[in-house]
Amino acid sequence: MFPAAPRSAPGRGRCRRGVCGSCLTEVVRGQPIHRDTLSPGVRIGAMSTCVSWAEGPELEFNL
Ligand code: FES
Repeated sequence: MFPAAPRSAPGRGRCRRGVCGSCLTEVVRGQPIHRDTLSPGVRIGAMSTCVSWAEGPELEFNL
């Protein structure tokens, strides 16, 4: 597994703690384990790449 690059631009507010949502990235394939504090409705089909992980061996993003 490789660390995913957040989509937010440098300098934009990024908490890196799973609270702001600026790193939400679309998940194309695989199941994430959400470790952020965002509401489930916000992260449908996406995950916060700063704190979340893949449940299985692979996770594919739309970067
Ligand atoms: S940087 Fe804030 S949720 Fe990931």
